[in-house]
Amino acid sequence: MLLLGIESSCDETAAAVVEDGRKILSSVIASQVEEHKIYGGVVPEIASRRHSEAISGVVGEALSQSGKSLSDLDGIAVTYAPGLIGALLVGVNFAKGLALSTGLPLVPVHHLRGHIASNYLSSPELTPPFLCLVVSGGHSHIVWVEDYTCLKILGRTRDDAAGEAFDKAARAMGIPYPGGVELDKIAEEGDENAYKLPHPHVDGAPLDFSFSGLKTAVLNLLNNARQKGEQVSVPDLCASYRKAVVDCLIHNLFLAAEETGARRIALAGGVSANRLLRRRAQAVCKEKGLPLYLPDLSLCGDNAAMIASQGYYEFLAGNVAGMDLNACAQRSIEE
Ligand code: KG4
Ligand code: ZN
Repeated sequence: MLLLGIESSCDETAAAVVEDGRKILSSVIASQVEEHKIYGGVVPEIASRRHSEAISGVVGEALSQSGKSLSDLDGIAVTYAPGLIGALLVGVNFAKGLALSTGLPLVPVHHLRGHIASNYLSSPELTPPFLCLVVSGGHSHIVWVEDYTCLKILGRTRDDAAGEAFDKAARAMGIPYPGGVELDKIAEEGDENAYKLPHPHVDGAPLDFSFSGLKTAVLNLLNNARQKGEQVSVPDLCASYRKAVVDCLIHNLFLAAEETGARRIALAGGVSANRLLRRRAQAVCKEKGLPLYLPDLSLCGDNAAMIASQGYYEFLAGNVAGMDLNACAQRSIEE
């Protein structure tokens, strides 16, 4: 079964053709990141405009690279939630137009379910149930994936998402948006024990995360140093901060693994590209004898192949939408 995937929830316009949820025939991504950089973050209005301009060409390119035409497809999967509403609407409306004109089924896909599905593309042997740490720019969840379309959130962030926490701390250190990627690179050169930072936990909810206090600790450290005229080592601070964030993620993930008796662990979302997070997850899984599934680096960030992959399982579960499908800025991965 061939599905076209369309993704436009944030600042990447993407389209892909995927066979049976597991084999990528094409994957095209038009990133707007350079344009948003000068503003220090994604500007929603600009994102929507760029999606509108790019989407037709990106979908055409994905079809052309796959060697397939619209008549070869069995369905159109599209990200409908969560994300920037104006950005989501571009993908949803384009997908609706295609579905209406071709008569193909329209399959709505939750963006974070898509991130989890990037593991189905990278590891063909992976099947639910498994435990997944989903860490992106907007979300940080520990998810029990009972089945492809039956998911339960066991832990979540109470404030900033992990990606957001990386980006904001990076910005405070003068690293341009999206700082998380660069902070990770710079951290490789630093001493992770140079600065003592808090490891926040949420009272009464041991699987939940809280990163805003950690981010504030970095801001305070930078301000204090500035006032005293002291030098801050950016590589050391990047390394110490990355260690603190990753310590929290790893601690809660493996606490959840113990509580659920999970036999398989996966990572997903933009932050799953983080070098330390991958190394630490690999080390703990090795020690515990648990298989670890990591998305290929090319599939960690936003892409449409993951949407087509999850779309395949949504379609098999009967989750097909009508022409009244709407985009939702917020929606739980469980729904
Ligand atoms: O999943 P994603 O591409 O978009 C959302 O759905 O939000 O995640 C983007 C986030 C950004 O905050 C970015 O800084 C972060 O993922 N990110 C990283 C790394 N690569 C991307 N954070 C830390 N280390 C990385 N290597
Ligand atoms: Zn994403």
